Amino acid sequence: MSFDKTEWVWMNGRLIRWGKATLHVSAHALHYGSGVFEGLRCYETDDGPAVFRLGEHVKRFFYSAAVYGIDIPYTQEELEEAVCETILRNGFASCYIRPICFYGSGSLSLNPRNCPVETVILAWPWGAYLGDEGLQSGVRVTVSSWTKFHSRMMPTTAKACGGYINSILAVREAARGGYDEAILLDAEGNIAEGAGENIFIIRDGKIVTNDERSSILLGITRDAVMQIAADLGYEVEVRPIRINDLYLADEAFMTGTAAEVTPIREVDGVTIGKSARVTGRIKKVFFNAVAGRDEKYKDWLRLVEQPAAVR
Ligand SMILES: Cc1ncc(COP(=O)(O)O)c(C=O)c1O
Repeated sequence: MSFDKTEWVWMNGRLIRWGKATLHVSAHALHYGSGVFEGLRCYETDDGPAVFRLGEHVKRFFYSAAVYGIDIPYTQEELEEAVCETILRNGFASCYIRPICFYGSGSLSLNPRNCPVETVILAWPWGAYLGDEGLQSGVRVTVSSWTKFHSRMMPTTAKACGGYINSILAVREAARGGYDEAILLDAEGNIAEGAGENIFIIRDGKIVTNDERSSILLGITRDAVMQIAADLGYEVEVRPIRINDLYLADEAFMTGTAAEVTPIREVDGVTIGKSARVTGRIKKVFFNAVAGRDEKYKDWLRLVEQPAAVR
């Protein structure tokens, strides 16, 4: 990942040059992870750049902030506009977008009551998170020796900065073993999710995924894929997924804003299924939807530059 092409950063209400978007080393969030963030993608469409499910992401951003008592000093509409402005000013046709809201410098007591709330939006061009080859032919994953934190420890449905230390342990362990990504189990030993992705398995034509009871982030891509699968006529079942469900699956895949829809080819050296036929069908509809080529899913896209008539 490189930020080379990014010139502008939205910081506390203004677009400023990348090099000016700095912070003091005493920032509370740097020490304790006291912030929340989002990850979105903007895709190139025939009508110009469009952000996928902008409203849902900004809504989850506010939800995550509310969980931690962080008062975002903007409205959802203002932040939606700010995301679009950041993309436009940088001149991106497609990119990844990272809004973050956190406690800045003021005190290093654990209680951040004297710390200012900082709100920032970054954007940069970002290709396939797990690589083009992984997106195409599937990734090799490992079941991590680290457990996904239980939602009684920290709510997994809120996207908090500090929580990702758990994912970092898992991805580094996976990388050391030569794997593309890690899957974490929940405290009960069922599949929770990938380090940054939700998990789906396919068995006998049925699409299965888990939910927040398995300590997952309720992914917005997960939701889109569930809708796509149902529209394609598949039965979608939400239930805990055991490790052997994954091993015995006909197909498995991961979803996420960064990872999009990535097939899982192997788990700890065991090949999953014989084909990725159903995953391929879902993936095709997903990529048509995000590129604005499917009327049915047009509502999922927010054009960065709204036509004058709807402004
Ligand atoms: C831990 C975790 N699970 C799942 C997801 C997928 O969520 P979404 O599809 O909303 O990006 C992400 C990515 O944000 C994540 O970090």
